[in-house]
Formats: sequence, structure tokens, C-alpha cells
Amino acid sequence: MFYENKKVIVTGAAGFIGSNLTDKLLELGAGVIGIDNLFNGRIENLDDAMKNKNFQFHKADVRDLNFLLEICEDVDIIFHEAAFASVPQSVKMPENCNDVNVNGILNVLNAARRMDVKKVVFASSSSVYGETPGLKKNEEMRRVPISPYGAAKLACEAYMYVYYHVYGLKTTSLRYFNVFGPRQRDDSPYTGVIAIWFNRARNDQNLIVFGDGEQSRDFTYVKDVVQANILVGEKDAAGEIINIGAGNPITLNNLGKLILKLTGKENLKLEYTDPRPGDIKHSFADLSKAKNMLGFQPKYKQEEGLREYFKWYVKIHNLNLKIN
Ligand code: UD1
Repeated sequence: MFYENKKVIVTGAAGFIGSNLTDKLLELGAGVIGIDNLFNGRIENLDDAMKNKNFQFHKADVRDLNFLLEICEDVDIIFHEAAFASVPQSVKMPENCNDVNVNGILNVLNAARRMDVKKVVFASSSSVYGETPGLKKNEEMRRVPISPYGAAKLACEAYMYVYYHVYGLKTTSLRYFNVFGPRQRDDSPYTGVIAIWFNRARNDQNLIVFGDGEQSRDFTYVKDVVQANILVGEKDAAGEIINIGAGNPITLNNLGKLILKLTGKENLKLEYTDPRPGDIKHSFADLSKAKNMLGFQPKYKQEEGLREYFKWYVKIHNLNLKIN
């Protein structure tokens, strides 16, 4: 088993994606050092991990280089999931977004290089594509980000490549397409639309759509994103940038209808308001490279992922809501 006796770091380990990845790595036998500044992350997300003797947690910030240097000794892989992760929030606070994302990755890369970490895997974003023409995005396309967040993620990808090219550090960037699932924050206006709309539906509130709802997204279940990270750890994809999505886009209008159907709230409506600044129109992953290079195959269709996520939510919050 590849991960047995491997020592890995997960940054953003208490976050939505980081904690799901941490649990999987522990299940596969890795020793995991999780770090998180608990700004967005929640320590409860690590309840299971904390019971595992192969897990260590540190409340720390990726902008603290000295701390990173301390924990990188004998580490095989760093999975860098810590981020300032919201498009609209980046429009309000571009400097913070840059500080966390760009200075954060520089620290991670410098610590990895100085401490001889073998590989760094980075959580990039489909937002780097911005307003490229056409629906399906492949990695060769021009990237024209239209939000500070997209610009910062693109700068991070550039640094990832440079540290491979100049210093020989094995780096791989994964461009995630709209990840959703268990542990996504449900209490912040900056969280993903699925978490926001599920909350509204269960509280009998109409769903608010920014724009005409004809924008589309390739919503990806978190377990598929975890699968992709696990594969990158095992395979050689140094210097590469790879899309990770569901390969199955849906318009916001159809997503809204699906959420109302699954929650049995078809009496509620979609309510339309102004488009959101920084929003891209279409985002749909071409997964050819992920399939060829990693053997990645998404396992969850959106409806299955939504059902599993809502059932999980209902169970842990003990809600009286039937998911169809
Ligand atoms: C999301 C991620 C980002 C990631 C990117 C690409 C979140 C918070 N952001 O950005 O980290 O890099 O995907 O994978 O997960 N919308 C509504 N009504 C609402 C909320 C949103 O209509 O109440 C619309 C938005 O205008 C947008 C779409 O839903 O068109 C998706 O928005 P959101 O979930 O915030 O994700 P992205 O901005 O695409």
C-alpha cells in the first residue's frame, strides 16, 4: 500500500476539503500532520482524525515559514489545501486573498524545497480560466481570470511550475471545479451555492439566483476530489496542471430545481437578483488529462453526490427532513 508509512502534511486540514482528505489518508495508513489557522476551518471536522494515533494537529498559519520548516522534516508529500477560498470575498478583500493564497504557497514551496519534501500537490481552481470562450475548459486554454481570487490561484500555479522547473521540486496543481459535500461550511454567505441553497430550502426560504441562472458549473463531489489527490500522490505528474471535475455541468436554474426536488420543497421558488461581480458564465471540466495521466474517473454524478451530502447533513444535525 503506497501510503503506509508515508509522512504527509495537509494544510487547511480542518477545512472542508482538507479534513475529507485527511480522513482518507489516515485510512490508507499515512502519518498525517494537519495544520490549520482555524479561520475558516472547524476543529470538529477533525473529530475522527484526532482519535487516530497517526494524526497530529497544529493550529498554525501557512504564512509562518519558520513553523513550516519545523514540521517538514522527513515529509514525503504536502497537500496544500489552505486557502482564501471565496470569489465574492476576494472582490471585497483582494489584498487578503493575495496574502493567504500567494504568500501562503510561497512559504509552502520554500519550506518543501529547503527540507527536501518529495512532492507538493496544490488545490487550484477552475476560476483561473475566467472568461475563456466555449463551455468545456481544457488545461491548454488561455487563462483570463476575472476575479482577484482567480488571479491569485493562477499566480500560485505559476509558482508551482517554477519550483518544479528551477528547483526540481515535484509539484502538481489540481484545478478543482466547484467542490461540494459533507463539511462544507453552511454558516457563511461566502460558502458554495449548494450549501447556501440547501440551508434555505430546509428553512422554507426561496433560493436566490444571481443573474439569470443560465450560468453553469461542474459541481464535483468532495470524495472525487479526495480520490484525485490520492492518485497524484501515487503517480508521477510533476510540473503538471490537471482539471478535476465531475465532467457533468448543470445550470444554476436546474441545480435549484434539483435541490427543491431532493428536499421535497417544490413549493419554493427561484428568486432572481443582480449578477455577482467576478462571476464566470460557464465552467465545465475537460477531464481527458486527468483520465490519461492519473487514471482519474469521477465516481459521483451530481444528483448522487447531492443526495449523499444532504443525507449526511440531516443525520448529523438530527433534522426531521426526508431526502428524496
Ligand atoms: C467556487 C468556489 C471556489 C472555487 C471555484 C471553482 C466556493 C465558495 N467557491 O466558486 O473556491 O475555486 O468554485 O471550483 O465554493 N450563486 C447564486 N446564489 C447564491 C450563491 C451563488 O446564484 O446564493 C451563483 C453564483 O453567482 C455562481 C454560482 O452560483 O454563478 C456558483 O457560485 P459559488 O458556489 O459561490 O462558486 P464559484 O464562485 O463558482
